[in-house]
Amino acid sequence: MPEVSPKPPQGAAPILKPLRLGPLEIDFPVVLAALAGFSDLSYRLICRSTTAPFCTTEAMLDRQMLLDGKLRRKLIKLDPADHPLAGQIMGFDPTVMARAAVVLAEMGFDVIDLNFACPVRKVLSKKRGGFLMSRPDIALETVRLVRAAVPEKPVTLKLRRAFLETDAEHAAFWEIARGAFDLGVAAVAVHARSVDQKYRGRADWDFLARVKAAFPDRTILGSGDVLTAADALRMIRETGVDGALAARGAIGNPWIFRQARDLAAGRSPFQPSLEDQRELILRHFELAREIYGLRRAVKIMRNFGIHYARIHPHPAKVRMAFVGIKSETDWQGVMAEHYGATAHSTVVGAAAVANEGTDRPEAAPGIILASASPRRGELLKRIVDDFRIVPSGIDEEPLRERNPVGYAVRAAIAKAETVGGAYPHALIIAADTLVCLENEIFGKPTDRNEARDMLTKLSGRRHRVVTGIAIYRKSADRLLHGHETSWVTFKTLEPDAIERYLDTANYLDKAGAYVIQESGDALVEKLEGDYDNVVGFPVGKVRDLLLEFEHPATGAAKS
Ligand SMILES: Cc1cc2nc3c(=O)[nH]c(=O)nc-3n(C[C@H](O)[C@H](O)[C@H](O)COP(=O)(O)O)c2cc1C
Repeated sequence: MPEVSPKPPQGAAPILKPLRLGPLEIDFPVVLAALAGFSDLSYRLICRSTTAPFCTTEAMLDRQMLLDGKLRRKLIKLDPADHPLAGQIMGFDPTVMARAAVVLAEMGFDVIDLNFACPVRKVLSKKRGGFLMSRPDIALETVRLVRAAVPEKPVTLKLRRAFLETDAEHAAFWEIARGAFDLGVAAVAVHARSVDQKYRGRADWDFLARVKAAFPDRTILGSGDVLTAADALRMIRETGVDGALAARGAIGNPWIFRQARDLAAGRSPFQPSLEDQRELILRHFELAREIYGLRRAVKIMRNFGIHYARIHPHPAKVRMAFVGIKSETDWQGVMAEHYGATAHSTVVGAAAVANEGTDRPEAAPGIILASASPRRGELLKRIVDDFRIVPSGIDEEPLRERNPVGYAVRAAIAKAETVGGAYPHALIIAADTLVCLENEIFGKPTDRNEARDMLTKLSGRRHRVVTGIAIYRKSADRLLHGHETSWVTFKTLEPDAIERYLDTANYLDKAGAYVIQESGDALVEKLEGDYDNVVGFPVGKVRDLLLEFEHPATGAAKS
């Protein structure tokens, strides 16, 4: 179970002030730390859903920020639901750091955070990160140039208490902190260990108290040994710092933010049930899949799963189970065995994540679209006012057969039945679209090479786009299905044109590697049949099936 005390501490709840970062006011002072490998967009959104008020990206190399825009967008993912957000950069050349800060500001980061703390050997050998704790001159020149480059954005620093354990007087720390405040930084976050110490030993909270005492009117964030919500509040109370960074304490326990708010309000801290854990972990998987594609999502979630296991009632067993995951099927097996997951009962997307906790199977029958595709959601809005989105998460590959119509319909039925298993009273709408060139069926490419092969084969040829549709209500034991076919003729595409398309298009989750609504002119010569079907959702056919489902006498579809 989570390492939180079941009851709030005795006595009055601590009074916590909002956190001030220059012009920004953060409503609560326990925030998500920069965490390489963990504070990515998917986990930040998860932490936002558990009330994290402010997050920081992992440390990003300044030089990578100066890459061509497309490459950069691949590396850095932002979302409207993920603000206020600090982008953390690391480098050794103050002018490059300043240019990188400008890029981050233009991309929409709310705060620019400079990493002078990273203790990783390779980083230090390149004179970046924590190395600057030994070079106040370069550190302050960096602050000066960055401040001048982005005067409109709050700039913050992440420092360690010293470079070496033996730096008894911590002279460089004070020089950097004082100089940086003089140059106008909005806050300094202090990891109360030396660079040399890495993560060993205890963090020196007395040092945090000394820093706050030295800068009573400045914003100081404390970091180190905040492993529970109670630790975060204790750090603020005992050292006087203005806020606490949840780092290792947040990995695997994103509820730490909600627990901290509970404790601060004098309530018992929220204890996530196994069902809460399941819902959140499944949602995290869907977000990771949406952002990175399936293969990377499986790898990423294996890593997160190992940490989520720590609050499971059987942590050791579940940790070992996550360690063995190699595929989505393995993932689903672990979720089914240890978290009782029967389907991906999740709601995808940032807005939905921000509204977490309201959807439970059986709670509100209604209509469910069993698809993660935003395009399908948009098209369904044309004929249905109110519905929820619950992707099935199924692997369609085992359903593969030679007949494209049979394949698409079977896949749609499998999706509908999977989601129907979790929401038996809801009306489930599911669809599966595939592209078929003569006898070859194209699914979604898993990488650029596969996408290139598909587009090369489609070049100059006429192919079929088939969507299978299933409408299902488990409690009524009723299933309708149908399909729609359109024909698309591609222009003859030169290799250059394919590469240009692949540079810009989001092709990974698209059957046949193309999106007609984004790339029609560049790729398509002629379309015969229903355009919406090629987008992935034949609205007219779906409407007919829905009418038939509600009024069986019209005979519009097969049952
Ligand atoms: C896996 C991991 C990755 C981290 N990555 C970063 C990073 O990219 N940037 C940074 O400033 N600090 C990073 N840190 C340091 C944390 O933000 C935090 O200062 C440190 O873990 C001390 O807090 P804790 O003892 O409560 O975990 C990382 C820490 C861990 C454990």
